[in-house]
Amino acid sequence: MKRIPMARPSWDDDMRRAALETLDSLHWVKGPQGKAFGQEFAAYCHAVQGTPCQSGSVALWGALRLLDIGPGDEVLVPSLTYIATATCVSLVGAHPVFVDVEPDHWCVDLASLEAARTPRTTAVIAVHLFGQMCDDHLVQWCEEHGIAYIEDAAQAHGAMAASGTPAGGVGDVACFSFFPSKNLAVGGEGGMMMTRRADLAARMDALVNHGRDARLESHELGSNLRMSEVTAAIGRVQLQRLDGWLARRRAIAKRYDGAFSGLSGLHPPPTRPGTQHAWHQYCILADEPDRLRAALNEAGIDSRVYYATPCHRQQVYATHPQHTATLSVTDDIAHRLVAIPVHHQMTDEEVDRVVAAVKQASHPSS
Ligand SMILES: Cc1ncc(COP(=O)(O)O)c(C=O)c1O
Repeated sequence: MKRIPMARPSWDDDMRRAALETLDSLHWVKGPQGKAFGQEFAAYCHAVQGTPCQSGSVALWGALRLLDIGPGDEVLVPSLTYIATATCVSLVGAHPVFVDVEPDHWCVDLASLEAARTPRTTAVIAVHLFGQMCDDHLVQWCEEHGIAYIEDAAQAHGAMAASGTPAGGVGDVACFSFFPSKNLAVGGEGGMMMTRRADLAARMDALVNHGRDARLESHELGSNLRMSEVTAAIGRVQLQRLDGWLARRRAIAKRYDGAFSGLSGLHPPPTRPGTQHAWHQYCILADEPDRLRAALNEAGIDSRVYYATPCHRQQVYATHPQHTATLSVTDDIAHRLVAIPVHHQMTDEEVDRVVAAVKQASHPSS
């Protein structure tokens, strides 16, 4: 029986052709593919501009630079996320303040943000965790307090807010990752900064290119963070496929939701009303995560726990004032969120196998 992995990157003849044509053109960097990929993905996200770069982590660093965030600034970040959401803040010399997540949707919690806000708070990095959109009220909250809204949309390509705005078009700046396991990939490392603010667009492009203008004058500190043309060309083809892939992820998630409702000890992930989830991960909140993972493993199915060690408890933050602080929801659920395969290439038979294994974990004797 073939093992079911957590992700299977897509690779087809159109992507192969796009990659080869770009290599044959000898235009390997700073060319039309990166420009077009940025424009096409920005249009998809209802944003003004997308700037491709080398990774989601670099995009987060760039977003903070773009918003002039640095020493003396406090940036609110959820602790239940991938470590890059927090370390980008430290890398620009600002101070990450860890906040809790919502008990039901697991995205950054508005009450926790309000409790952590100080006069030094200049930004929040809101993660659309697992592909679930953050609370729409966050936009208004940030506006009211003059706080910049950075979307960490690394897991949310194609998710849509209740307002009808896609992930990437909601905040001041948004950051995407195209790591191979993500909903959209580029055949290597990759990321993108996105903005709906015309006033930030030109500087955003410059940041990934040593802060230089068209005359090659450097105006601010940047670096070479550019995406290569080959990966951009592959990303453009993947973007054309994205909606079809999302439809498949959503159909699988719907099947899981139906099959898992009412199972004892296993709580399927609720979707925020009115939004469209991108289902980068389908995480079950398990009372006994080890038992669920053992049942899946026995049935030849991969699983992962997200995020067993929340950011504030990671060693990199051993001297952070919140290292041993309690974030009640995060601490309660972090080690219990078991992700099961939900990728678009799963066959119906594989989905059936996952359903059967999860049910088995709930009712081991049946
Ligand atoms: C929420 C989140 N933020 C940021 C990143 C960083 O992206 P990258 O791995 O492309 O640097 C990831 C990637 O896993 C992520 O999941």
